[in-house]
Amino acid sequence: MRAPARRVRAGTTALAVSAALLLGFVAAPTAQAGTDGAGTTKTLHELARESGRYFGAAVDNPELADTEFADLLGTEFGQTTPGNGMKWYATEPQRGVFDFTAGDEIVRYARANGLKVRGHTLLWHSQLPDWLTSGTWTPDELRSILKNHITKVVKHYRGKVFAWDVANEIMNEDGTYRENIFYKTLGPGYVADALRWARAADPKVKLYLNDYNVEALGPKSDAYYTLIKQLKKERVPIDGFGLQGHLALQYGFPGGLKENLQRFADLGVDVAITELDIRMILPADETKLAEQADWYGQVTDACLAVRRCVGITLWGYTDRHSWIPAVFPGEGAALPWDEDLRHKPAYAAISRALAAAGS
Ligand code: G3I
Repeated sequence: MRAPARRVRAGTTALAVSAALLLGFVAAPTAQAGTDGAGTTKTLHELARESGRYFGAAVDNPELADTEFADLLGTEFGQTTPGNGMKWYATEPQRGVFDFTAGDEIVRYARANGLKVRGHTLLWHSQLPDWLTSGTWTPDELRSILKNHITKVVKHYRGKVFAWDVANEIMNEDGTYRENIFYKTLGPGYVADALRWARAADPKVKLYLNDYNVEALGPKSDAYYTLIKQLKKERVPIDGFGLQGHLALQYGFPGGLKENLQRFADLGVDVAITELDIRMILPADETKLAEQADWYGQVTDACLAVRRCVGITLWGYTDRHSWIPAVFPGEGAALPWDEDLRHKPAYAAISRALAAAGS
């Protein structure tokens, strides 16, 4: 079912481009798969699949209305993550009232285009509904709210998502626990509880912890290393560690990325790059784009060098739709496709790295 859906879309796009060229509507084809990459016409996902991995990109629901964007997402990638659609504020906007509209829309789109879906996220300090953050809860009440949320959401998406970011961003930079509502009310044991409830609701889905600034060796990644080691020892279900990969040229490439991925893999969990983007201080120029391309290649190489690194997800794929300018004014240009969906040098770097591993 998967291959025909993808071929039909690619064929449709190619036909449309040829017709437009004949009619003089466009100057030249822009972002067709792979041709400026590793000298191949294979998509990033096709190349990643050759070494048993996926290559994906996140999508926020409103972006699906951008058909040019949605078409390319569906042809180039093999996996997607909802940027917001499965977060608590979206899935349980009122206590005990669940709304799966946004997440379901992405699952439907993904199925129609042969993409697998990573669930994001069951528990996070951000984008919680008001009813939860403004309430005062006893530990028993909050435990029951958390258990009910995890159980209902995981059961709803059973068989539809291959992995869940069960707990997102639970550590501070210095490796101490973030004082989110769950930690403050329940103590650190909420993490193991969340993982157990998720497992009870879906015995097959891969259960991840996920965070940013954990790509390098350092106190924050050390904290996760210690936690996952402990969870494994206590036989708490934990299957993976997600390294978001929100990088910025001005802060330098994360030191020891490959070694870091490997040490988690050696604990017996999968690892994945879950939200990759590499921003820069604007304006972009040739030098910065070349450095960005080099970094994208390095991240891809690092994942490919670690057997249990199962895949890479970009956080969006085009500068047309990216969270960065709103959060870091003056920064951006973080993705491998520009605002007009043309390949940037980063695309070729990723394609080359994947092709080298596949061959
Ligand atoms: O839904 C409202 C809409 O009603 C309103 O009109 C609009 C006006 O600004 O805002 C909409 O909410 C926005 C929401 O995304 C949905 O589009 C929020 O303002 C905006 O802050 C929110 O940003 C999201 C951000 O998480 C929140 O922290 C980004 O789209 C999303 O890409 C980003 O993703 C996170 C990951 O989940 C975790 N790791 C970091 C990553 C980047 O911050």
